[in-house]
Amino acid sequence: MAIRKIAQLGEPVLRQRAAEVPLTELGTPWFKQLVGDLIETMRDADGAGLAAPQIFESIRVVAIEVRANPRYPAVETIELMVLVNPRLTPLLRDPAAPARDETMDVYEGCLSVAGLRGRVTRPRKILVEAMDPEGNELRSVWEGFRAVVVQHECDHLDGKLFVDRADTSTLTFLREFERFVPASERVVDYGSGDEKNG
Ligand code: NI
Repeated sequence: MAIRKIAQLGEPVLRQRAAEVPLTELGTPWFKQLVGDLIETMRDADGAGLAAPQIFESIRVVAIEVRANPRYPAVETIELMVLVNPRLTPLLRDPAAPARDETMDVYEGCLSVAGLRGRVTRPRKILVEAMDPEGNELRSVWEGFRAVVVQHECDHLDGKLFVDRADTSTLTFLREFERFVPASERVVDYGSGDEKNG
């Protein structure tokens, strides 16, 4: 395993559509090494997730993991998951016009956009279909913070970054984020039940 360099905003690999992983690659030494490197690089950088294109591998693999973090006491723990060829389907009553209580506002950051945060609105509930690195099918409904994290990571596979989706008037450097964005505004789940009029 190795800690890899993380591509930064402007690197062409971050803007490419990543290739599907052929089933024949699962279990090969090359693929196992890549998955191991992805996890190790994510952990080393304290990321909530990392997508393969961010380590210069333009294939459809993402890793997600959130461990208890004193800086984000409100954020739930997410066990380590590696998704291969993931497909996401937002679960919305009207996909063309999501209702407020079907969305979340999260100040997102990205290891490829160092030092910047910005508020992004996303569907709060999604169907996740993928394989794990051993080829087992995964199909489950995720909601809340983990649904936002997986959407951010899967965007990377289509060459999209959170800055493309952020309300640009909310973009902030990390120092100013810590200073001026109240903890109560950093993750707002309008569908959680305690924001009924949000
Ligand atoms: Ni990212």
